[in-house]
Amino acid sequence: MRKGKSLLSLAAMVAAAVVCLLYQGAARADTLEPTDSGAPSAIVIFPVGEKPNPAAAGMAPVAYNHVIHEKWMNRTGKECMVCHHTGDPVACTECHTVEGKAEGKFYTLQQVMHTPKVRQRKENTPSSCVSCHKEQTKQRDCAGCHTQLVQTRDDDPNWCRVCHTITPSMTRAQMQKGIANTLSARQNEVLATETALARKPVSYWSPLMAPYKVSIDSLKGQYEAALFNHRHHAFSLADRISTNRLAGAFHTSQGTMCVTCHHNSPASTTPPKCLNCHSADLKRMSPGRPALMAAFHLQCMNCHKDMKVGRPRSTDCATCHKIAPTAARTTQGE
Ligand code: HEC
Ligand code: HEC
Ligand code: HEC
Ligand code: HEC
Ligand code: HEC
Ligand code: HEC
Ligand code: HEC
Ligand code: HEC
Ligand code: HEC
Repeated sequence: MRKGKSLLSLAAMVAAAVVCLLYQGAARADTLEPTDSGAPSAIVIFPVGEKPNPAAAGMAPVAYNHVIHEKWMNRTGKECMVCHHTGDPVACTECHTVEGKAEGKFYTLQQVMHTPKVRQRKENTPSSCVSCHKEQTKQRDCAGCHTQLVQTRDDDPNWCRVCHTITPSMTRAQMQKGIANTLSARQNEVLATETALARKPVSYWSPLMAPYKVSIDSLKGQYEAALFNHRHHAFSLADRISTNRLAGAFHTSQGTMCVTCHHNSPASTTPPKCLNCHSADLKRMSPGRPALMAAFHLQCMNCHKDMKVGRPRSTDCATCHKIAPTAARTTQGE
């Protein structure tokens, strides 16, 4: 249906971008843009259950920003069916409840919203929040860091809180109605809008807080110290993701820009050297934790590969290693 309309939709996109800019200029505090589809701009998805839950016990309900997802869907030529997989744009909780019910083949809310692989299929299901977001991190601008990150965040409360956020003005009674599926659509949208608008991107530590150039010389071998353009890297990575809303919402720490390279320790502007955890001595390293030379090479080169950085190629030894005169002969063959 969308095919053959690319010019038109391009024009529409430009127009939308202009509108968007104007809109930001006139940013109002209390409303979201309306959707084209007529769906509410934002919706609180409650932990709707079959069994009574008078204590209103559960995770903080998720305020889902429908309009930004719809706009993204339009930009990328996707269909409503990606999420509304039965073809009928009704609430997921019609069929997927806390306990699960027959209409949804007993897939529970928790499963369908999180689990990347609900069934034993190879690829992630695109309909679930978490698996679709994971898919987004495979893009070129994200992959350099994301393929190196430990993939499971199941014990990271900051991660849960991006979706499961308490709406301050929500009353206990509203929560109970939400769970019983009797809250009015209007009240639901008001609560959802409040939370959706309160979501603000984190402000990263400035790349200026990172050193300008770092001379890496932990290994005393055949080459001179490798000169690493540290600040250029920090700027380049920050630039690539600064306008991405998904990254903005899910990067929860000011140090997110730093902790992929400076990993396994708390975010800090004075992180420990790689040497402090990666010994140069192969015999003393545990499996999964490479010795120092490999630690450097793997981190530099894997990121370059995943982000499709053209230069330096991993085989361009001399771009990273200014070759010491005595070593020049040994390396020529490589
Ligand atoms: C990225 C996923 C996604 C896309 C794409 C999407 N939706 Fe939704 N939609 C949702 C979720 C999640 C809900 C909340 C369901 C709930 O409350 O249980 C929802 C809710 C709705 C509702 C309110 C349902 C109700 O009865 O409460 C309507 C209407 C709707 N969507 C229409 C659409 C239409 C039309 C499109 C395509 C233009 C669309 N949606 C695209 C995920 C999506
Ligand atoms: C009319 C009932 C119905 C509605 C509404 C519904 N689902 Fe489902 N859902 C099902 C059924 C049935 C299955 C099992 C499908 C199967 O086995 O092929 C399922 C399975 C799933 C799965 C796991 C299966 C897979 O691997 O893809 C996900 C994820 C999912 N639904 C997400 C959603 C989301 C998100 C919404 C709301 C936007 C939603 N569903 C709305 C009936 C529904
Ligand atoms: C089919 C893919 C897809 C699905 C399914 C999906 N998302 Fe997203 N989500 C995205 C994309 C893409 C963005 C970034 C949108 C943009 O660039 O404007 C995003 C952005 C977000 C953000 C950050 C932006 C903000 O301010 O709200 C949150 C939070 C979020 N999604 C929550 C959810 C929840 C909750 C669900 C499930 C109910 C969900 N998403 C389902 C693709 C998806
Ligand atoms: C400089 C490294 C870096 C880059 C580049 C990067 N991320 Fe992340 N991302 C992280 C780190 C580190 C975390 C773990 C959470 C934290 O520390 O804030 C994370 C977590 C996330 C999460 C939550 C975890 C998950 O797997 O669901 C999402 C979603 C995400 N990033 C999206 C993106 C997107 C989209 C891009 C590209 C536009 C991107 N990131 C680029 C470092 C990065
Ligand atoms: C990408 C968005 C997202 C993230 C991140 C997320 N969830 Fe959820 N989760 C949902 C949605 C949507 C639902 C269904 C709506 C609801 O229950 O409020 C849900 C439902 C649940 C449920 C079942 C309902 C209930 O209230 O008991 C549990 C339990 C849960 N999540 C726990 C977690 C935990 C723990 C984390 C962090 C480790 C987490 N979630 C991270 C989106 C998310
Ligand atoms: C992306 C940059 C990069 C590329 C390309 C690269 N290296 Fe390295 N290499 C490093 C860094 C950083 C170190 C750590 C330097 C230190 O501690 O002295 C290192 C260390 C080494 C060391 C141990 C230190 C020394 O002086 O002996 C050797 C040997 C080495 N590299 C060989 C190579 C060879 C051979 C190639 C080409 C096939 C190559 N490297 C390509 C970044 C790179
Ligand atoms: C692309 C990977 C990468 C990113 C992103 C990164 N660093 Fe680094 N940083 C390194 C490497 C590699 C070293 C050298 C470590 C060593 O010599 O053991 C280093 C060294 C440092 C040093 C020590 C400098 C010296 O002269 O000894 C500081 C301080 C530092 N980084 C801070 C930061 C901060 C703050 C951020 C985030 C704004 C950051 N880094 C982001 C890779 C990175
Ligand atoms: C505080 C200790 C610590 C510091 C400092 C540290 N690492 Fe690691 N590193 C680890 C541990 C622990 C593992 C094993 C992780 C695992 O098994 O998932 C690891 C694994 C790795 C791996 C292989 C797995 C992966 O994530 O790709 C690489 C490459 C690596 N480190 C590079 C570096 C570089 C480069 C630096 C300096 C910028 C550094 N590390 C600093 C603790 C550290
Ligand atoms: C997290 C991803 C990432 C890691 C880790 C990384 N790089 Fe890079 N690197 C990039 C990107 C992106 C570019 C392209 C920068 C641009 O936009 O100019 C680049 C470019 C470069 C360049 C060419 C431009 C310049 O700065 O001179 C060199 C040389 C380089 N990297 C060396 C290294 C070395 C040495 C390491 C390991 C100590 C390393 N990189 C680790 C992402 C990374």
